[in-house]
Amino acid sequence: MLDDAFWAIHSDLPREGPGDNASTARALDLMTDLPRAPAILDIACGPGMQTLELARRSGGHLTAIDLHMPFLAEAARRARAAGVPDRVRFVRASMTALPFADGAFDALWCEGALYMMGFAEGLQAWKRLLKPGGYVAVTEPVLFQPPEETPPEVLAGWAEYPAVTTVAGILARATWARYWVVDHFPLPPSAWWHDYYGPIEAKLPALRAAHGADRAYARRIAEAEDEVDLYRRYSHAFGYLFVVLRLA
Ligand SMILES: C[S@@+](CC[C@H](N)C(=O)[O-])C[C@H]1O[C@@H](n2cnc3c(N)ncnc32)[C@H](O)[C@@H]1O
Repeated sequence: MLDDAFWAIHSDLPREGPGDNASTARALDLMTDLPRAPAILDIACGPGMQTLELARRSGGHLTAIDLHMPFLAEAARRARAAGVPDRVRFVRASMTALPFADGAFDALWCEGALYMMGFAEGLQAWKRLLKPGGYVAVTEPVLFQPPEETPPEVLAGWAEYPAVTTVAGILARATWARYWVVDHFPLPPSAWWHDYYGPIEAKLPALRAAHGADRAYARRIAEAEDEVDLYRRYSHAFGYLFVVLRLA
């Protein structure tokens, strides 16, 4: 259950997971057969950094979904500020029950959230939403060595996603789910720090000063510090892989 302390840490951040506009643009550029104004579904959009980059660069129509209303409101505010509000619509929905017609989209996008459903499970469940020849772009947690050569601290850090695997493992699952692998690349470490872990670290001292005596806050602050520290120490061992796929 996510509490006030969690949302205090996870609010007013540029984005809600690792990523950057350069990587979003690079993945979009790999979709060389998109129509001129593609229909793109951004799943678990958070505050919408990648949604807006896709709207700006694709010239298409974005549908962006998330469960958390404050993120949808912030993303809509940013869309107005960016001057693209009429090409982006925001819908409160769960990634596990997407309320759209079969074949409604040219591309599905999901940065930093598919692991909550499971990579292969989500790819299979979402496939019906794609037009023939449609694309999928997702970022997926990745181990840079096999699990047996991965530091135990990293595996413990991903205990909630025991399916976390290597590049080869991710690509094998995509093929198993009957997609072509167009290409893949790891997010650079800067994409973890600049708009995500850096801003989180910057807000922790003030939250501790204001709420540190509250046990729920103290626990959430410690969890956030541990998560950031894990990446600082082991960015050579794990990361996120951007994977671009196409319907086989
Ligand atoms: C790690 S964040 C990534 C957000 C965004 N893509 C980004 O990179 O900034 C995960 C997002 O998933 C959303 N989320 C969690 N469970 C969800 C669900 N079942 N359906 C839709 N969104 C969900 C959260 O509200 C959050 O915005």
